[in-house]
Amino acid sequence: MKDHADCQYSITPEAYTSPAFHRLDKSLFARHWIGIGRADLVPDAGRFRTLDIAGQSILLLRDREGTLRAFANTCRHRAARLMEGEGECRGIRCPFHSWAYRLDGSLVAAPQMDAVAGFDKAENGLIPYRVEERAGFAFLCLSEEAPELDAVLGDFDAVHASWPLADLVTTRRREIEVACNWKAFLDVFNDYYHLPFVHPDSINSIYGQPDDQTPTKGAYASQFGATEGTGGLLETQQAHALPTMPGLAGREAHGARYSWVFPNMTFAANSDALWVYEAYPLAPDRCHVVQSACFHPETLARPGADASVAVYHDRLDAALDEDLAALENQQRGLACPSARPGVLHPLLEANVGSFARWYDSTTLSLTALKEPQG
Ligand code: FES
Ligand SMILES: [Fe+2]
Repeated sequence: MKDHADCQYSITPEAYTSPAFHRLDKSLFARHWIGIGRADLVPDAGRFRTLDIAGQSILLLRDREGTLRAFANTCRHRAARLMEGEGECRGIRCPFHSWAYRLDGSLVAAPQMDAVAGFDKAENGLIPYRVEERAGFAFLCLSEEAPELDAVLGDFDAVHASWPLADLVTTRRREIEVACNWKAFLDVFNDYYHLPFVHPDSINSIYGQPDDQTPTKGAYASQFGATEGTGGLLETQQAHALPTMPGLAGREAHGARYSWVFPNMTFAANSDALWVYEAYPLAPDRCHVVQSACFHPETLARPGADASVAVYHDRLDAALDEDLAALENQQRGLACPSARPGVLHPLLEANVGSFARWYDSTTLSLTALKEPQG
């Protein structure tokens, strides 16, 4: 007889539906390193973009030296919102009383405040957050207490060393709102089990059985699987296949590595393309999703590359549409009061299981932080 203790169970359905877990998830996002996608979301010096993370507006920008920086998007005078949307700027000027900040966050001008005894510009710069780049990805941390990013990522670089991830260029960044919990969205991206049932005629025949999950050290999970053709295209589109990324060889040139950097960013490193999904909680049953598609610059320099890249983008949309219908249906089932954790397949839902373990232990420690010590 099989022993249940050997089985990995899914996260409790309540964590996908209840306001209490939604609050817990927001505090998870406020305490941990969060993957905010590709670092070229602000490509050059002076480019900025505002992000909403855990209900907090963040101003992300590249300073004059090209260093990525993140600040609370709130003025140090009387807390007006500083910037909206995205664009280019030479500095940051508050629309309320015109305090002006450099791109490094330092306060450079505050009208008439020089006459105020005790006022020191050096003490009134923008509130900075940690933001770092690794392998072409950008990571943000709102907490001062979280460990260094390298300690969190562990052996991430070594596991992904074959792919020239840092060189890849984003060709598309698409944002959508999905009627499911953010964790469910990330789960399905890492799920081999659903392929024959949700994607029977689009991509299923491209994917074989994946390899055993890669043992990893760090807050991420990763699994490689061989593919028949490229997973970057639908079964019917394989004639549009772009070349393998420079440097990729052997088995890794004929498959896809699915990785999930906990909690909120997951990606598929294919032989010819990378795509990335970030998911952010909006409500227990609603999330904000960012999709990025990336290619090597040598691939993009080829004649006719634009037309081929558009076919890759279409494949992403086609598979996503099939997933969205499955996710919205799953969310309805998760809301059933009798829903309970289920047994995961150790090979076909390996990354899903790893995240479930990480989430259970992390949220348990967050809950412990809030409860009085007895
Ligand atoms: S609130 Fe920004 S200058 Fe007054
Ligand atoms: Fe899917």
